[in-house]
Amino acid sequence: MGKNKNGMKVGILTAGGDCPGINAAIRGVGKTAIIKYNMIIIGISDGFTGLINKEFIELTEKDLSGILTVGGTILGTSREKPFKSTDKGKETRKPDLIKEHYEQMGLDCLVCIGGNGTIKTAYLLSQEGLNVVGIPKTIDNDVWGTDVSFGFDSAVNIATEALDRLHSTANSHKRIMLIELMGHNAGWLALYSGIAGGGDVILIPEIPYKETKIAEYLLQRAEENKPYSIVVAAEGVENPDKERSVGQYLSKRITELTGLETRETVLGYIQRGGTPSPMDRVLATRYGSAAADMIAARDFGKMVALKNNKIVDIPLADVAGKLKLVEPDNPLVIQARNMGTSFGV
Ligand code: F6P
Repeated sequence: MGKNKNGMKVGILTAGGDCPGINAAIRGVGKTAIIKYNMIIIGISDGFTGLINKEFIELTEKDLSGILTVGGTILGTSREKPFKSTDKGKETRKPDLIKEHYEQMGLDCLVCIGGNGTIKTAYLLSQEGLNVVGIPKTIDNDVWGTDVSFGFDSAVNIATEALDRLHSTANSHKRIMLIELMGHNAGWLALYSGIAGGGDVILIPEIPYKETKIAEYLLQRAEENKPYSIVVAAEGVENPDKERSVGQYLSKRITELTGLETRETVLGYIQRGGTPSPMDRVLATRYGSAAADMIAARDFGKMVALKNNKIVDIPLADVAGKLKLVEPDNPLVIQARNMGTSFGV
């Protein structure tokens, strides 16, 4: 296939929480841009911090080889929010610095791989005149406008494996095992992992729980001689105890209210580590390659997305500042309820 003598210079940055699949996305953008469009790839270090400090490196095809299966991000990441004013309320010069360095680096466009915060910053930079394309990345799956962000499937796999292991120890000790999962303010990770891992109780921020309802349900199971129960709690559910994680709080309260021996596991950053699942490798590659096509077509100010398994694009303006949360009447919630799963209400 002949190369377009495109020669555009493409900056790529990865920002926000890391997750499996980021390097697959970088590889998808980079290899498509270099091989199909003869573009130049500039990897920017540590998210928007690298643009502010002008820290970058050219990525060749060789640099992109062998990273498909590698966890984390070869570029590094940060949670830098360039448009957030300083504590003293002073306007920050960071956006100006970013614009200056974008020009000085000779970039024709910028690919921002990240979650909600990153997509919002990408939108604001596009409003400042930069050519930007966004790629939805997060284990939380709470990015508006796309059916799924990459990173989510890998985290569901990791959490589900943990749940499978908790079943055996819960059964051996006839205990209640509670696992706290990530997801920020959304319940997608707990919902999907809870169903995949056979959770008896699934607690998500979108469906406020009642402690007494959880206790009643678990006692009912005990009275029916169910030897153990598994409780899956999203980290974003209400936590009255600011001193401890919500998993620790709920585990204590379940013991107090039911008298049943309960232990908690806070899965934490395990959910963000390691190699991407095959589904995430494919999705991240699809997103990255589509982003390169958009750049070649000079189709900027948009985020690549997945709708009914088709790659589409959506204006950054339509995504910025929004959250995709679990609808209480989501079909998965209804089906789980129909099968006797408790959502703590
Ligand atoms: O957004 C991904 C995520 O892992 C959330 O699920 C979690 O609440 C947050 O990042 C943790 O942030 P940090 O990595 O800054 O501790």
